[in-house]
Amino acid sequence: MISQRLGVNVDHVATLRNARGEAYPDPVAAAQLAIAAGADGITIHLREDRRHIRDADVTAMKAGITKPLNFEMAATEEMVAIALAVRPHACCIVPEKRTEVTTEGGLDVAGHLASLGPMVARLKAAGIRVSMFVDPDEAQLRASAAIGADIVELHTGSYAHGAAGEFDRLVAAAGLTDALRLECHAGHGLTFDNVTPVAAIAQVMELNIGHFLIGQAIFDGLPAVVERMKALMRAARGG
Ligand code: PXP
Repeated sequence: MISQRLGVNVDHVATLRNARGEAYPDPVAAAQLAIAAGADGITIHLREDRRHIRDADVTAMKAGITKPLNFEMAATEEMVAIALAVRPHACCIVPEKRTEVTTEGGLDVAGHLASLGPMVARLKAAGIRVSMFVDPDEAQLRASAAIGADIVELHTGSYAHGAAGEFDRLVAAAGLTDALRLECHAGHGLTFDNVTPVAAIAQVMELNIGHFLIGQAIFDGLPAVVERMKALMRAARGG
């Protein structure tokens, strides 16, 4: 099976830093350590309220890492302007406001085709790969393909919370991506205990994992948790 990438989300290194208003811990230093331990990319989410990652972190991260930067952003003009200025490897468009979310938490692409389509086109024209963070729902995948997204990231939050039938929904959604010419990623709420079945889904090329890894790093150290997550992902795909 094709190997799978691990994108390490370092937002919560910034959460910890901001809790005391100091300059440490530094999300860029954490990203560099994660990459040295085997992370294939780094993900950051510049939220509209800047509760963790801040504007200066985005430019520092782009300059400070040697692996692809995945920039999570709300579908707003402000965020598009920042993305076009920074030019990350990829942008993952995520819901931030309640009006943008479906009940399960993914972006409602199907309900916002007219506004999201031109946004995707502008980001792609700048050479940025564009991902949609969606629930494992056929209509959302078809809508993502229709507006020209390169990638869908399947929201694994409900699966992580043990919702009945949710794993089957992830498998079914992933199974549609080849025909729709969408690269398939997954993430949210993944841990050492629940990652294996998702990592084993053949079409899933990348997992983006943050909160658990940063939390577990308090106990085991960041390199050790990144190495263990990568080892679990490799094992899930037959080594
Ligand atoms: N993927 C996307 C699109 C996200 O917004 C997030 C953060 O909420 C993650 C993955 C990582 O989720 P977690 O921090 O729960 O691992």
